[in-house]
Formats: sequence, structure tokens, C-alpha cells
Amino acid sequence: MSFELRGITKTFGALVANDGIDLKVERGEILAILGENGAGKSTLMNIAYGLLQADSGEIFVDGQKVVINEPSDALAAGIGMVHQHFMLIPVFTVAENIVLGHEPTSRGGVLKLEEARTAIHKISEEFGFDVDPDAIVEELPVGVQQRVEIIKALIYDAKVLILDEPTAVLTPQETDDLLRIMKSLKEKGTSIIFITHKLREVKIAADKITIIRRGKVVGTAEPSASQNELASLMVGRPVDLAPAKTPHEIGAPVLTVSGLEVKDPSGRNLVDAVSFEVRAGEVLAVAGVQGNGQTELARALINLEDHIEGSIQLSGQEIVGMSVHGSLTAGIAYIPESRELDGLIGTFSIAENLILDLHTQKPYAAHGLISPAVVASEAEKQAVEFDIRTQSTQDPVSSLSGGNKQKVVLARELSRPVKLLIASQPTRGLDVGSIEFVHERILAERDAGRAVLLISTELDEVTALADRIAVMYRGKILAIVNADVSREELGLLMAGVVSDGKKSA
Ligand SMILES: Nc1ncnc2c1ncn2[C@@H]1O[C@H](COP(=O)(O)OP(=O)(O)OP(=O)(O)O)[C@@H](O)[C@H]1O
Ligand SMILES: [Mg+2]
Repeated sequence: MSFELRGITKTFGALVANDGIDLKVERGEILAILGENGAGKSTLMNIAYGLLQADSGEIFVDGQKVVINEPSDALAAGIGMVHQHFMLIPVFTVAENIVLGHEPTSRGGVLKLEEARTAIHKISEEFGFDVDPDAIVEELPVGVQQRVEIIKALIYDAKVLILDEPTAVLTPQETDDLLRIMKSLKEKGTSIIFITHKLREVKIAADKITIIRRGKVVGTAEPSASQNELASLMVGRPVDLAPAKTPHEIGAPVLTVSGLEVKDPSGRNLVDAVSFEVRAGEVLAVAGVQGNGQTELARALINLEDHIEGSIQLSGQEIVGMSVHGSLTAGIAYIPESRELDGLIGTFSIAENLILDLHTQKPYAAHGLISPAVVASEAEKQAVEFDIRTQSTQDPVSSLSGGNKQKVVLARELSRPVKLLIASQPTRGLDVGSIEFVHERILAERDAGRAVLLISTELDEVTALADRIAVMYRGKILAIVNADVSREELGLLMAGVVSDGKKSA
């Protein structure tokens, strides 16, 4: 099926999020949409799927105009969408989710469980999904949960599939699997609209590329264009994809972790006898395949985990057992892996989110009273410095685009005077221009003598920023190596293979 948007315009108050956008994807084609954070990509796709209404513009399926007022209209027209935040019920099986997750449509009617099972098997086989209809969703890896979302769309005959940043939360392996699945869908005639900030993926998967800037289509590009060309088309200026890291003096230990254990409720060690230190002026990166204890390690360091044993010292002061607030005020900045869960309060304004945890401190408060004028003027300053694209810092943070939400967390955490910065997946969802900026800021923290613990599944990010790299595997730190380690050796360590070739237990 071909799918076309013509003259789509959407405003939020005075902000023009989509300004007369035209785009078209043919049957069996993958169209990548590239654009800065806040460019209007998600807005446009939400209009195509009936989650938002355009102010003006038209939608055509196979040359026929369709009216899409809600998602069931989109489904009936053969348009499916996978959101970045999955809409699955964790305790139900795959088949139950597929039956329950769907409104009856004029085309499909309500599915029965047994029919769903059969259909899941069929789709799974046809496209190489490898999904068990009877598996419990919460026991599945993220990449497989995402396939369930794709099946949900395909089961109602979606011929156009919209994927909004589907790879942001995937491991490199899961990403490769998804790109393979996209290829086989396309070969069977599905049209795909693919939104991503990762230029490598665009070059691998896309048949054509449309670039959006500030709500307008500013051009198209061929997948053969270099990453640098794509980056500058998108941002409107040249982007340095690899930041310059200058060698410099490393100081005294700031964070000293010894014998740290984090247990799950059943008593199993998620973090297992971990010891390391991070010194002033140093970036220690924790690398590893997602799910090897990095998340729990980061959370434990600010006492967000419940069952912690061992010692965590910040400049010699023991912090295990402190409150989260206490740990932060002891001198830690914390960029959480999930901005939605741990980083932001959606209904609070951007300005308020910029001072969470700081509202009792100078310059925001004096004699126990918050100064709204100071809060507002500091927010304006940070919005400019971190390029947070918004009409007003008094708007709720939930109105921001994904990448701009992340910038609010970054602005807050990178602006406080601390000894230690813990940054988990700091550039998740950011466009290449913002990644360049954030990488420079993290290196500036290091150069100013702070200790930085970076936790990232992006190997490019790890090798660009780290002075030393600790590799985590099954809850343990398998090795700590210098940043000039080869990609191959790093890859082997992440798979649990130590340098004598033995597989770790
Ligand atoms: N409900 C809303 N109310 C007010 N403004 C909104 C709303 N939804 C989106 N916007 C604004 O519209 C603009 C486009 O946002 P959109 O989410 O489409 O960007 P995006 O291209 O998907 O960015 P990202 O790469 O960060 O996900 C942003 O400036 C955003 O703040
Ligand atoms: Mg978006």
C-alpha cells in the first residue's frame, strides 16, 4: 500500500509543530525520518495514527483520501504503530495481550484467544519473529516485547507500519534483529516509516530519507550519504561525531565501592561482589550487555535499591543506608536510565523539574521560601544553554518531545556543583547535535576535576568518553581495561570471555 501525507499542519498554541508537511512511502519501502529533537516527528506520526488531529492536511492510502480521527480508523485503513513505550500488560501472556490490547475494528472484529495463538504462530513463522504466544510478557526481553507490539499491528493487517524510535531501548543484538525483521516485512510488501536518531541504522535500513527541521520538510537524502552529511543536513551545521578528549591529571579517589552486592527479592545477587573506584578528573565507563547488573549498580550508588550490602564511600564518607535525597546532597548528580520513571515529574513544569531536589537550596530558596523569579530566570538560562525546545519553561514537562525531556534531566544534573556524576544512558533519544553537546559537557565535568561514572550500552559513547572501562557480566565486573582497548576485546569481555579465552561463570 502507498501512504501519503499532504500539507499536514499542527499547532500547539503559538507553536507550529508541523508546518505543511508532505511525505510519501510506497508499497514495500522503508522511509526513514530524520530530524532534531522537537522537529515534529512524533507529532506527525501521532496524527497519521489518529492519536492527534491535524489542523489541516490530508492523508491518502493507495491514492484514496482517508479520514483518521482515532487509532481504530488508522487500523481499519491498514496503518499500525509501535510506540516507544509499549502498551503491554506485563503479567499476561503474549496471546492474551494481543486479544485484550485491541479495540474491535470494523475489519477484524474481536479476536478469540485460540485464533490469536494460531495467528501469532503464523506471523511469527512468516517473518522470523520467534515469539511464543504462551510466554508471559514480563519475562520476555525488551526486544521480544517489541515484536509482540509489531505482531499486534500485523494481526489486524497493517500494511503501513510506523516505528517511532524503536531501537532506542534495544541492545545492539536486538537492534540487528529488528532491522532484519523490517527487511523481511518490506520484502512481503509492508511499507514502513522508521524514526531513529542513529544514522548507522538509517544507512542500513532506509530506501529513502526525509529530513524535518522545525516542523518543515527541509530535504531528502539517499542512504548512501555519509553519516557526517546526514548529521549536518539534520542539524543545519557540521557536527563533530567524535569529541576530542585531552589527556590530563587524575586526582584522588572520589567514589570507592567495595564488595557491593544488590539482591533481588529472592536473594539472588544482581550485583555481585563489585569493587572499583572512580577518581577526580576521570571518566570510568561501565560497559556491558543490558541486563548484567548495570542498572542496579547505578541505582544502588544513590541508595535507590533496597537490599544493598558492602560499602560505598564518597570522598571517604560511607553512604550506604542514607536516603536517596541524602546521597544526592552528599555530592552526587544522577542521570537515571529512565527519565520517565526516575528523572521527571510529568505534570510539573519544565522550570520545576529543573530544580527537583534543589528547591530548598540557594539560589532558589532563601529563609525557607522559594523565589519564583529566580526559579524562572534560571530555567530560561538552562533552556537556552541546553537548547530545550519549548515555548515556555512554565509548560508541563510532559508536553516536551522525547529528546527535550532528556535535556531537562541533563540540564538539571549537569548544572549542580557535585563531586560525582553518575550518568546512565545519558544520550538516549538525543539527536546527533545534542549528543555532541552532551559529550562535550561530560568531558568538561571530567576536566573540571569531577569523577564521572558513565553507564552506557553504546560502545561509541563508551570509547569516546572513557578513561577506563569496567565490563560487567552477570553482576560482576569482569575486567577494568584502558580506553584504548580494541573493539574486539571489548566485545569478547561483554560476552563473558576473559583474555585467556575462558568463558566466565
Ligand atoms: N501536547 C503538546 N503540547 C504542547 N506542545 C507539544 C505537545 N506535543 C508536542 N509539542 C511540541 O511540539 C514539538 C514537536 O514535538 P515532537 O514530539 O513531535 O518532536 P520529535 O521530532 O518527535 O522530537 P524527539 O526526537 O525529541 O522525539 C515540540 O516542540 C514539542 O514541545
Ligand atoms: Mg519523538
